[in-house]
Amino acid sequence: MTTKVLINEQIVDEKDATIPYNDRGFTFGDGIYEYIRVYDNHLFTAKPHLERLVRSADEIGLDLKYSVEDLTELIKELIAANHISNGGVYLQITRGAAPRDHAFPTPAVEPNLMAFCKSYDRPFKDLENGVQAVTTEDIRWLRCDIKSLNLLGNVLAKEYAVKYNAAEAIQHRGETVTEGSSSNVYAVKDGVIYTHPINQFILNGITRRVIKEIAEARDIPFKEETFTVDFLKQADEIIISSTSVEVMPVVKLDGEVVGDGSVGPIAKQLQAGFVEYIEQQNA
Ligand code: PDD
Repeated sequence: MTTKVLINEQIVDEKDATIPYNDRGFTFGDGIYEYIRVYDNHLFTAKPHLERLVRSADEIGLDLKYSVEDLTELIKELIAANHISNGGVYLQITRGAAPRDHAFPTPAVEPNLMAFCKSYDRPFKDLENGVQAVTTEDIRWLRCDIKSLNLLGNVLAKEYAVKYNAAEAIQHRGETVTEGSSSNVYAVKDGVIYTHPINQFILNGITRRVIKEIAEARDIPFKEETFTVDFLKQADEIIISSTSVEVMPVVKLDGEVVGDGSVGPIAKQLQAGFVEYIEQQNA
C-alpha cells in the first residue's frame, strides 16, 4: 500500500506529493503546523489543536482559507486513506509559493497545505520506566507560543539531547526553565505540580491543558509559576508532556537521578487520568 499525502485539498500518492521550490515554508520557515494524535481510530483533541493552528495563523497574519471543520474533514479522509488506527497526523500550512522576498507577497498568494500521517503505538515502555533529559540554554525566538515551522532552535536542542543519550532537552532562559525542545515541562515538589505560565516563552500545549484538567479533578495542586533550573534539579519528580510522549516521567536529569530514580506517584496518577481521558474522548 502506498502512503497517501494531503496536498491542499487533494489526497495523492507520496510520489506525487510535491510543493513548489519557492514555497515560503522552505525559504523562510514562513508557516505553521500542528501534530495531532490518533487513538483507536479517533482523532484526539483535534478541535483545540486546530483552534491553536487558527491562532498561530492569525498571529503571523496568514489567511488560512480553511475552517477548523474543513481541516477536520480533510484530516479524517487522510487517516482513512492511510488506514491509521493508532498514530499521528502532521499538518502544515505555509504562506504559499512566491518569488523570494522577505516581505509578504502582494497580492497574497494561496497558502500551501500539506499533511501526512504515521502509524505507531503509545510509548508504553518509556511511560513505565521514564526517560532521561538534559538541560540546555533556550536560544529560540520570543514567540514560542506560535507553532511556527521555524524550529532550528528546537532541532539544535533535541540534537544536544541525542548527543547525551537523552530523550529530551529541557530549555531555560537564564535561570528560568521554559519547556522542552518538543514538550512542556513540570517539576513536582511536595505534592505540588509547577509549570511555566502560558505566555510567549512556551507553547500552550494541548497535553498540558489535559494534564491541568486531570490535576484539578484529582485535587493535585497545579501552579503555573516559573521555576529555576536549581528547583528542577531538587524536584521530587519531573514530567514532560506532548502529543507524542503524553505524560512522560523524567527519571534522570543531566546524568543525576531525579527523586528516588523511579517513576513517582504524581506521574502515575496523571498517566492513569490520561488513559481515562482518552477513553472518555473515544466513547
Ligand atoms: N510538539 N512545546 C513545544 C516546543 C512543542 O513542540 C510541543 C509539541 C509541546 C507540547 O504541545 P502539545 O501537547 O500540544 O503536543 C510543547 C509536537 C508534538 C511536535 O512538534 O511534533
